[in-house]
Amino acid sequence: MSGPMDGDRREPAGAAPPALSVQDLHLRFGGVVALAGMSLAIDQGIIYAIVGPNGAGKTSLLNVVSGLYRPNRGRILFEGRDVTRLPPHQIAGLGIARTFQNIARFKGLTVLDSLLLGRHLHMRTNAVTAGLFFGPARREEIQNRDSVEDIIDFLEIEQIRRQPIGTLPYGLQKRVELGRALAMEPKVLLLDEPMAGMNIEEKEDMARFILDVNEERATTVVLIEHDMGVVMDLSDRVAVLDFGKVIAEGPPAEIKVNQEVVRAYLGEEDEALRQKELEAEAASSEAQAEAGAAEVLG
Ligand SMILES: Nc1ncnc2c1ncn2[C@@H]1O[C@H](COP(=O)(O)OP(=O)(O)O)[C@@H](O)[C@H]1O
Ligand SMILES: [Mg+2]
Repeated sequence: MSGPMDGDRREPAGAAPPALSVQDLHLRFGGVVALAGMSLAIDQGIIYAIVGPNGAGKTSLLNVVSGLYRPNRGRILFEGRDVTRLPPHQIAGLGIARTFQNIARFKGLTVLDSLLLGRHLHMRTNAVTAGLFFGPARREEIQNRDSVEDIIDFLEIEQIRRQPIGTLPYGLQKRVELGRALAMEPKVLLLDEPMAGMNIEEKEDMARFILDVNEERATTVVLIEHDMGVVMDLSDRVAVLDFGKVIAEGPPAEIKVNQEVVRAYLGEEDEALRQKELEAEAASSEAQAEAGAAEVLG
């Protein structure tokens, strides 16, 4: 028997609804148009990259899909089910988790607590409201711990489990942020620039984790990423956004040679400039982390 979770990617076309599809999404902030009629369909089990210049609407798309913002118009379907009007916790509960581009939150939490927090958002029974420590709530708590331990193993962060996130190097902070999303056991994982500001080695590690999550857990991955090398290596399909719309969509090899896309939206000058910005950002973040570590160590 073959189910959607057994990792088999080669189901006949039409057998399963897309993991995620958005139809004609519009989102405005006052006079600013963030999404201008965006439509996409993302098949189950693939790695789907989303690229485009700053301000194209990439983060807005994730915010709408995860229920943080309500679109002015359009629909969001998760495995064929309309989730457009659901609040964020219900969308997360159905199996859509995301990482944030700005990971400045939760810096005081230890790695372990951050993952347990992610996990608790996924928990059905609450030990306090259930009024029972033993029984179902207790069993669930043990399950939560086991699941979090699996993720710690998987992400190779055993040695830093007791460290406050804010004291970690930037690359590891991003890895823990991935762990927090994984703790929710998502079917669809939305990653907002998970490799931004990383050095090559950190990027390679993150790329490997993303591939493994996709393969071992049969998780559909939506990856916002600026590094075209990474996009070409990792993704099964790519959408290029600009001004809140999809301007090109297809397998990476096709997108790569789409001259209009290359010239207009992925210009090398832009990319070089952006890389410099990110390196500066990472350097300042690492300096902060070091200052934090110094404080903790007294
Ligand atoms: N909360 C917000 N309030 C006002 N404008 C926003 C907000 N979020 C995004 N925008 C605007 O929407 C547009 C798309 O932004 P965003 O989705 O963050 O782009 P990207 O992630 O592709 O860089 C930009 O013009 C941005 O300034
Ligand atoms: Mg963004």
